[in-house]
Formats: sequence, C-alpha cells, structure tokens
Amino acid sequence: MGICFEEKRKIFKLDTDKTTYLIGLSPEGYVGHIYYGSRLVHPAGNSLLRMEEDPRTPSVNDREKGTFLDKFPMEYPTGGIGDYRESCLNVRDVHGCPGCELRYVSHRIYKGKEKLEGLPASFGVEEEVETLVITCADEVLGLTAELSYSAFAKENIITRSVRITNNGQQPFELEKVYSACLDMDNQDFEMISLHGAWARERHIQQGQLKYGKQLVSSLRGDSSHQEHPFFALVTPGTTQRQGEVYAMNFVYSGNFIAQAERTQYDTVRMVLGIHPENFGWHLEPGESFQSPEAVLTYSDEGLGRMTRSYHDFYRNHLIRSKYTHQKRPILINNWEATYFNFDTEKLVEIARQAKECGIEMLVMDDGWFGKRSFDDSSLGDWTVNEEKLPGGLSYLADQINALGMKLGIWFEPECISPDSDLYRAHPDWALQIPGRDATKSRCQYVLDFSRKEVRDYAYECVAKVLRGANIEYVKWDMNRQLSDMGSACLAADRMKELFHRNVLGVYEVQERLVTEFPDLLLENCSGGGARFDPGMLYYSPQIWCSDNTDAIERLMIQEGTALMYPLSAMGAHVSTCPNHAVGRTTPFATRGHVALAGTFGYELDITKLDPQEKAQIPEQVALYHKYNDLVREGDYYRLASWRENHRYDCWAVAAKDQSEILVTYVQVLAETKMQSRRIRLEGLAADGLYELEGTGCRCYGEELMKAGFLAPVFHGDFASGLYHFVRVE
Ligand code: GLA
Repeated sequence: MGICFEEKRKIFKLDTDKTTYLIGLSPEGYVGHIYYGSRLVHPAGNSLLRMEEDPRTPSVNDREKGTFLDKFPMEYPTGGIGDYRESCLNVRDVHGCPGCELRYVSHRIYKGKEKLEGLPASFGVEEEVETLVITCADEVLGLTAELSYSAFAKENIITRSVRITNNGQQPFELEKVYSACLDMDNQDFEMISLHGAWARERHIQQGQLKYGKQLVSSLRGDSSHQEHPFFALVTPGTTQRQGEVYAMNFVYSGNFIAQAERTQYDTVRMVLGIHPENFGWHLEPGESFQSPEAVLTYSDEGLGRMTRSYHDFYRNHLIRSKYTHQKRPILINNWEATYFNFDTEKLVEIARQAKECGIEMLVMDDGWFGKRSFDDSSLGDWTVNEEKLPGGLSYLADQINALGMKLGIWFEPECISPDSDLYRAHPDWALQIPGRDATKSRCQYVLDFSRKEVRDYAYECVAKVLRGANIEYVKWDMNRQLSDMGSACLAADRMKELFHRNVLGVYEVQERLVTEFPDLLLENCSGGGARFDPGMLYYSPQIWCSDNTDAIERLMIQEGTALMYPLSAMGAHVSTCPNHAVGRTTPFATRGHVALAGTFGYELDITKLDPQEKAQIPEQVALYHKYNDLVREGDYYRLASWRENHRYDCWAVAAKDQSEILVTYVQVLAETKMQSRRIRLEGLAADGLYELEGTGCRCYGEELMKAGFLAPVFHGDFASGLYHFVRVE
C-alpha cells in the first residue's frame, strides 16, 4: 500500500485501496506513464511503455528521437522538442526560443502532504496520504520541474501538481504550465463534461471522443457558468454501476482547460491546467511557479463510485471549515423576497415570522450599503445605508439576535461600481487597459486584486463589519466575469500574469477572512454558481449553486453538481412561485424535497406567503433536522435521471453503516396510464431487514437492491416523495 519505487525496473507504484498508478523511467530519464486502473498486486512491467517497439528510445535509435517523443506516453510532456501532442509545459528562453526537455533527476517519497504555496489544496495526515515528488530538469534552461503525486488510499484519489523553478543564470518565460496529464490507449472512450449558462449551471453532457482535440475551458477569469473544470473519459456503456471512468477535477477558480486528444496511434492524452491563452509567468533565477492541483480518480464500477470518491475526498481532505461536518443553521435570505427594497423593519418582520416557523438565521442580501437601491452603484462603499438601516448593522444584529435568530450578510468585495466613492477616489483600482473604456458588466468593474493595497482595502471593509456587529455568516458574491486585463501596477512583460494573480489575490483575501474569523460560516457565490469549484470549497463549506431556484430546473443543476461535489456543499433554497427565473409553479413540498438535497434554506417573503405553504415550513424544518446528518455525511446514489429518461428523477443517500437510506423521487410530469415506478436501491446491507418508515412494510436489502420498491403514482405535475428505509434487523 502507499507509494514505492522499484529500483531495478525503475518503476514507481502508487496504490490506493482500489487503484494503482504506475510510472516508469526510460533509459534516458523520460518519465513515462505505464498504467492507471484497478489495483494491481504485482506491478505491470515497463514493457507497456513500448520502448522495445520501433522507433525505440533515443539512446538506441537517436535518428528517430522525434518519432519516439511524439509517441511515448509522457507523465508531463513539454513543448518544442518533438512531441506534437498537447504539451503541459511551454517555456521560452532568453533568446525568445521555445523548447524544454525534462529528464528524471531524483525523487522523494514521504508520508503526508505538504501545502501548496498561496493555493487551495487537499490535505491529509501521515496515515491518510503519501506523496511522491519526481524532480526532473532541463539542463539548458536550468529549469527544475517537481512533479508531485499524492495518493489518498481510502478515497481512491490521486492528486497532482507541478512546481517549476529557475535554477539557471538567465530568466525565462513560462507560457503554459498544466497540472496533470494522462496518456492512455484509447478504449473507445466517451467524454463527460459539464456545460451551462447563468441560472443553468453544470448540466451533464456525454459524447464520443473523436480524433483530434475535444475540450472544455474558461477564459472568463472564473471557473464559469458555461463550462466546468472537470471531465471524465468513460468506456462505452458506462452507467452509475459499471464501466471504467478516468476523471479529473481542478482545484482552481480561474481560467482552465480540460482537454482530451485522440492521436494518430489511437492513444489518448488527457490534460488539465490553467488555460495558456492570456497566461504567462516570468521566472528570474531563483524564482518558482506553483501550479494548482488536479484531483484524479479511476473507477471500474461506473460513475457512482467516482462520485462517492470525490464526495468523501472533498468532505475529508479539501473543505476545511468547522461547519463541514455540522448541521448549518437554516437560513432565510431576503434576495428573492425584497431584492433591493428593504429596511430594518421589513427584515425584522421576516425574521420574526421565520423564527416562528423554526428558521434559524436571516441573511441580508445585496443593497444594505452606500446608496445602493439598484445594481448600478456603490460596490466598494461598504458602509451601511442608514436610511434603510437606521442605527446601523449592530442595531439590526441586536434586533435579529433578540428574536433568537442569527444574522448573515452579503458582500461583493472583488467589484467596484463606477458610481461609487471608491471609484471616484481610486479609478486606477479597477482592471482596465490604458486608453480604453473598460467594459461594464452588471454596471460594474472588477477590482485589481493583484495589488496589495486593493486587497487590503477590500479585506478591511469586510472585516470591519464583522468586527463591529454580531454577524455569523457571509455570502461572498462575484457578479461578473473578468475583462480589460490591465493593471496599473504590473510591468508590460508581466501583464500576462494578471489573470492568475487575480485568482491568487482572491484566495489570499479569503484565507485572511477564515483565519481571523474561524467561526464564520462562509458561503461563496458568483452570480449563482459561476465559481462552484474545488478551489472555493477550500475556503467555504458551501457555495450557492444557482440563481435558478425552480425545483425542476434544479434537478439537472443539482445532478451535475453532485456528480463530484458533496450535497453538504450545495446551496439550495425553497423559493416562491411562480418561480422568479422560469415562471413555473411547483408544489411547495417538492421545492422542499429538492432543497433538502443541499444546504437547505428559504429565499422568499415569508410575510406574504400563502398560509397553506407557510404551514408546511415547520414540517420541512423538521425533515431537515431529521435527515441532515444523513444527507451531509452519507453515500450518494443517483438512481435515475430525468435528463436521461425524460420522465422522473431519483436519488438516494445511504448511511455509511447501512442503517438507513433516504430516497427522493420526483415524478416531474404527470401522464395518463401511469403505474408506480420500480426503483432499485443501492448501498444497503443485502441481509439487512429494512422498514419503509410510516408504512410498516419490511424488505431485505437484497430485495430492495435487486428487485426494487415501488414509488407511487402522483396526481399532478412536479410531485415528489421522500422514502426513508430504516434497518430493523
Ligand atoms: C447574485 C447572487 C444572488 C444575489 C444577487 C445580489 O446574482 O447569485 O443570490 O445575491 O447576486 O445582487
């Protein structure tokens, strides 16, 4: 178990409970990829590197070095020397020439995992994770590349990152630094990725991998609504339960590329990293560049095991907040209730009525500061608007606390309104290109977080508010994507660093926030779910999933999000109908059932709610208290997908000790001539006897998993049911 190096055959073996990853060295020191797949007790040999086949390795057949390099399965391919597939590292030397060639120098294996400087990254203690660092060098450039691999045994995860150091005499330019590469033989792969839009995030798509390159990416400065830093290659016929899956997810919140390339030899190269367009990094002698981390997993039991590996991994080894494994307070957010139109009296009345229904926290959303009564002003002026909130935030907090409720607040610290005192005082603090009018989006610009004084200002605005009033939750929003990438403080030859420097700036400020306020419950958000990624999960245990709160639209959004992110991280609220995003009316119960698969909360004007709906809130609150431990910590099973069958949706969460399972079934559209639907469960003890709560009906786990149970027919559209099976024997 763990990681070892077999000196004789020069093979590194990285084991997790169910997988093995093998790396081999060529005689010249090229670092090759032998195998990633199900666990091997006896390692495969490096003959799989095909070094004995023509064109053979350069030390045997130097004449065909180019052909060799264009074919050899590389762990970390470089550009400019003859491997024409997608490279992971492109470097330009002081003469302006591109080219880099990495050869093995040494390696180090240790228990545990070191932090990545300035970046979010997974963690684990010595019993949980082992790390291999392979040091390679390009002697001409004086460049050292440290390829890091950490194997998390229990979760079947391998993380990868790369650190590039200039150990030479001359500076050079990094033009591309990816984080991970996987060279494999094609197995008729199909590619799964996530696509979307504002209020339609993370829909799953799948298609045949053809010759050439297929990719998802973002050049928007964030991980984006539109595409997602995740992809998987699967063998044909892969389902939730069967098939081989190779997946990569990126612990990064900025521009990315996730690409699969099918080559002339019918091999496949999967790469993941920071998008090279509009990226560059200047390295002076002695300086280093650290790539973000990629999270890899392999499953030979379909997508279901991939999902559960990611869920466990993120819950145990990425999300640091003390709330990760705690029930969060049920909140009510006033955004869809009031938008910008509120005052203390209105908020206190919402809180009072919410409290009566069992809700525990009021979150005051956008509009409490400066002179903001619409989205066109005041970002940057984080002082309370006393016309709306006389007595200020501490008075409001006192009023809310006096009701027995907690108070939370909204910020958008990375943006600046042209109509703000901050912009009038510091117009150069906005990202902009000299001589050009910067592009406004939602009437705002983006602050230049590459500058320390700007980050300090933004941080102090948030911290001052938190120091001055009893506020226990922050929703950190970011409502536009980046453009006009110019900074008043970066030299021309460093301007290509700006996208990445901005991401690093956001991480630094959030790190300060969670360090000074360790008890704060932080929820990230970005115009809904434009930055729902592992990078942000390092700082906040939950992220607002989407501005679309319609229960039916949420089925696909939450299915895609839960493909790799735990339900405990998905911000999900019950809102009012007709839904503000799509105008649909769904039963209040269904809205509750769908939100229970996330953090759970409300986003509506409870003072105007239909009394019959309002009467259901205490029941839903009780369901939350009853099931949240299970939903937050259990094993998630996707049992049916409306996306695929166009009829119904169904998922379940089983306790790790197999003592209970909660099934959520959404019928979606009603039809004539319907009969009940047979649902086969997973994650139970075959010989355990389970009772369907409230019915007295008992079945063995074997029957429930192999034959299934019947979800009843509902009358009317969008109806849903919860089914709780508890082990009685
Ligand atoms: C974004 C968020 C919403 C709300 C608004 C406020 O769109 O996703 O939930 O906070 O901003 O402007």
